[in-house]
Amino acid sequence: MGNSLGILNSTLLSKKTLQNPMDYTNYIERRKLIEVMKQVNGEKIPLFEEKLIEKLQPQHKHIYRRLQNYAFNDGSWYRPAHNFVVTSTMVAICRTEGLDERNLIPTAMLHDIGNSLIKILEGKGADWENVDKRIAHRIVGSELAWEILKDLRKEGKIDLQDDEIQVMDDLIMTHDDPYLGIPLETLLEKQHRDADRAFVPSISSWYKDFLNYLDDTKNDYKKTLTPIKFMKQRLAFFYNVPKDNPLQASSALDLSLTKYNEGGSCEPQFTQTGKQIVDHMFKQRSLELFSGVFELPVRQFKRFYSEGLDKEKQYFLSLIDKANHPKDF
Ligand SMILES: [Fe+2]
Ligand SMILES: [Fe+2]
Repeated sequence: MGNSLGILNSTLLSKKTLQNPMDYTNYIERRKLIEVMKQVNGEKIPLFEEKLIEKLQPQHKHIYRRLQNYAFNDGSWYRPAHNFVVTSTMVAICRTEGLDERNLIPTAMLHDIGNSLIKILEGKGADWENVDKRIAHRIVGSELAWEILKDLRKEGKIDLQDDEIQVMDDLIMTHDDPYLGIPLETLLEKQHRDADRAFVPSISSWYKDFLNYLDDTKNDYKKTLTPIKFMKQRLAFFYNVPKDNPLQASSALDLSLTKYNEGGSCEPQFTQTGKQIVDHMFKQRSLELFSGVFELPVRQFKRFYSEGLDKEKQYFLSLIDKANHPKDF
């Protein structure tokens, strides 16, 4: 299991670089940190997407390529990272647990495509908490997914039938239900949800969400958030019994913080593989926190983030390699 602490161990602990630690309580500084993540993602995610595409079934390669045309249209710099994490988690879960690749993987790729038709407002805090947008991106997304899949079928690149596309459409339409207070019902919905939510503890989402929370100056909880409290808040988003908490020793569960998460309830991962992946990332974020990531100067943060992103994407790719071979279809 790799970790991304190279920079933290080698430079931070030498104390030489501690002169200008980042000040995440400062708005300008937060924008600089987000800018660093945008830049690094812009350089690296396309390369990792290529490696992921190599591992996909031929039909899925075509769908992912089509998805890439839409990736930045909502103005979210993290969209390609989300697509990468959700797709690779879904592939790892399906291949490890022998699940329905044919329906789940295209859904994982296309589930948020509706966002490409809905422009987000940059710098307005946690945009994904907007309920209208949560509903709208699914309705628009289901139509766009039909269009894309039918076009690919016409071009002879995929052979998905209408009844299969309908299954995907249903998944797209329900995928954010728990954030709207509606429980998921079917196995497929729950399995897909695991992949979607694996993004939350991933490196890009973690640091972006923490920094964006602090921008919400009207909210007393968010504007005074600390890295440790954020960690506890996120733990209470995924774990509701102490035995499941992957950070046993270093951070006790505080379920009173569950309500501060999107949708306000705790959603433990449903599949074993989904849980393993999320556990791994929580351990990683915890190691980073306790090694002093928030004391790095902005320039050092860039090196840390870049190395961390590499390690994480390698981790996903190696999970897929370790899983069973895909069933042919
Ligand atoms: Fe979504
Ligand atoms: Fe998503």
